Amino acid sequence: MAKSFAVIGDPIDHSLSPNIHSAAFRELNLDSSYIGYRIPKGELESGIEGLKKIKITGFNVTIPHKIEMMKYLDKMDESCSIIGAVNTVVNNEGVLKGYNTDMDGFLEPLKKRDIQIKGKKILLIGAGGAARAIIAGMAKEKAERVDIANRTIEKAIKLSEFATKIGLKANTKKIIETDENIENYDMIINSTSIGLKNESSPITFEKISQGTIIYDIVYAPMNTDFIKKAKDKKLEVIYGYEMLLGQAIRAFEIWHEMKAPYNAMKKALLGGF
Ligand code: ATR
Repeated sequence: MAKSFAVIGDPIDHSLSPNIHSAAFRELNLDSSYIGYRIPKGELESGIEGLKKIKITGFNVTIPHKIEMMKYLDKMDESCSIIGAVNTVVNNEGVLKGYNTDMDGFLEPLKKRDIQIKGKKILLIGAGGAARAIIAGMAKEKAERVDIANRTIEKAIKLSEFATKIGLKANTKKIIETDENIENYDMIINSTSIGLKNESSPITFEKISQGTIIYDIVYAPMNTDFIKKAKDKKLEVIYGYEMLLGQAIRAFEIWHEMKAPYNAMKKALLGGF
């Protein structure tokens, strides 16, 4: 039987997910389709009813519904209950089960490069929804410790409490304080939206040590100022599109119960730039 999928959110017209998943269907000759479906804030419940009526097989959830969607799930995978947000849903005859593939999406590019998180000292900039999935990934892979830097310090403190609860040592600082001891990190991650509108890097690079890995989760533009400055310093960089691809691959595997065609999906994603 033909399967249908969607990504729900608002705005949705710039989402790259329909392209990525459609490329996978073509590559594997699957009788499936995937569309972007705009559901404005406040209309999630009726939007989901609509998706159930058309017997959607599964859907991705993006801004602004990742947390509110939790209310409408009948079942939750551990990935979703730990992180407290959902980005992938399976519809089994009206029973909705939620997953969060952002954590695996974050870890995937590191695994691909054989980079161990274990024992690493990490600076995480940002304390929003994506940061929470990243913290869960760091805890799972046993990072040594994380410093969380955020514009709003209260949110950094809340996230550090979450980190501690799941067994990861965490401290907090303001973004403007990141220059102190910045040479001590093995990895620095930007999980804020800084860069999306071509803003300059949230940190300065003068004192960063050679060997530090720079990971941006902003994927458009591909070369943010943060990434460019890291490349100027000849540091190893991980691009935002890699995490986006990682979460899509994991979602594909949950829905189709088969290995995702990585290269076809990557090509479709990069074609979107
Ligand atoms: P997401 O789910 O994508 O992580 P979010 O939960 O809205 O989105 O989180 C956005 C993150 O980007 C937050 O850490 C936010 O900082 P605040 O907690 O202080 O709001 C950060 N952010 C966004 N724009 C920023 C800016 N111009 N300067 C500094 N931080 C910014």
